[in-house]
Amino acid sequence: MKNNRDTLGGRLSAILVAAGSAVGLGNIWRFPYIAGENGGGAFLIIYIGCILLLGLPVLLAEFSVGRSTHKNAVGAYRSLSKRWTFIGYNGLIAPFIVLGFYFVVSGWTLEYLVVSITGQIADYTSPETNQALFSEFTVNPWRPIAYTLVFILITHAVIVMGVQKGIERSAKFLMPLLFIVLIILALRSMTMPDGIEGLKFFFKPDFSKVTAGTFLNAMGQAFFSLSIGLGCMVTYASYFKPDTNLQTTALNVIILDLLVAVLAGMVIFPAVFSVGIEPTSGPSLVFVTLPSIFNTMSLKILWSSAFFLLLGVAALTSTISLHEVLTVYISEEWKMGRRKAAWVATGGVTVMACAASLSVGVCKGWTIFGLTFFDLLDSLSANIVLPLGGFATSIFVGWFMNRRILRDEITNRGELPSFIYKVTSIMLRYVCPVLLMAIFLYNLGLFNYLK
Ligand code: PHE
Repeated sequence: MKNNRDTLGGRLSAILVAAGSAVGLGNIWRFPYIAGENGGGAFLIIYIGCILLLGLPVLLAEFSVGRSTHKNAVGAYRSLSKRWTFIGYNGLIAPFIVLGFYFVVSGWTLEYLVVSITGQIADYTSPETNQALFSEFTVNPWRPIAYTLVFILITHAVIVMGVQKGIERSAKFLMPLLFIVLIILALRSMTMPDGIEGLKFFFKPDFSKVTAGTFLNAMGQAFFSLSIGLGCMVTYASYFKPDTNLQTTALNVIILDLLVAVLAGMVIFPAVFSVGIEPTSGPSLVFVTLPSIFNTMSLKILWSSAFFLLLGVAALTSTISLHEVLTVYISEEWKMGRRKAAWVATGGVTVMACAASLSVGVCKGWTIFGLTFFDLLDSLSANIVLPLGGFATSIFVGWFMNRRILRDEITNRGELPSFIYKVTSIMLRYVCPVLLMAIFLYNLGLFNYLK
């Protein structure tokens, strides 16, 4: 292997680290709140469409770019084509924007873990008290920042321990456990009074609620949830072995990621309708809804502690993947030791995260384009920066990158059937760019002239 870089273990490891990056707060915290704001059922269908038509091809493209070059995101695009190096830089700026608010929500997860372990969660028995818990905590100037900092330092520690040990180990055991806990919570939530209303909201499409924004949000959520459109999957694929099957890896990641999101919806929406929370409550939705489910369970302290612990771990495997993009870039391109590089990255994201945390509480009044800094980072990354990265990637890989590279990577130099390569290539050339452009233009209102 070139450059003596670390590589990951077998096939399972490639799937695990990629799924570890994909599955996280995006599935369990962001997906339900975005689906809730965008009408539920119809959103789910459009979202699945986005995953298949945009997610799968772009994921395969990024895997190919990463594994064929064995370089950090910027180095990878640069070595394929100098002109397209900017995609690498886009993939480098994005992690700062994502981590800026992602670390804040990760901090909330830690706080809820502590509230669960200490048994305080048992005091919160109505939607009003749950809401009060959430707002009191997030409005506090220092507590959320303290939890955020703890989460940043945990991520930093894993990064410094190195790729192989740190990332692979943490992903291996806990993801299946999270899955099981989600299934149990979904069963509990669905059997709450009126839970069925929530299932209807989530699974019965009401297309009258679909607007241009629904498409933008579904597309943004697809990119965000799959960790594509930025340097994460490129960087991870640079550690994949030559015999890793990119086709099955990508398919597995997509299926797992979707399953977790759908399960999260089946946990959240029945409870939302059962206890009368607004599905449009935004970022607080999941944090306000979950305690209502735990409250109906025996051993609630155990369940809520287990849940928030596993959610924290899922968030961690995602923050690691984002931090890794920055650390490898800094260490390879600025010729810095890995430890020092990790500190530089940590310093940068800490500033962003503190500002985002304050913008949810004491600095709520300071807005940019009518959004708090937190909300701005959230929608800027998912709805603009990542899809633009995906747009440029599909044009570059579909039209300008040496076609052999894509074919060799997707088929493992001819060992695997070429069907998926052919479909991916057509999707990257025609479908992805056109669809992405159409969604952007639709949202800018440009199609109104045609009416
Ligand atoms: N996909 C992760 C999640 O769903 C978040 C993420 C976004 C991670 C972008 C890496 C890159 O939680």
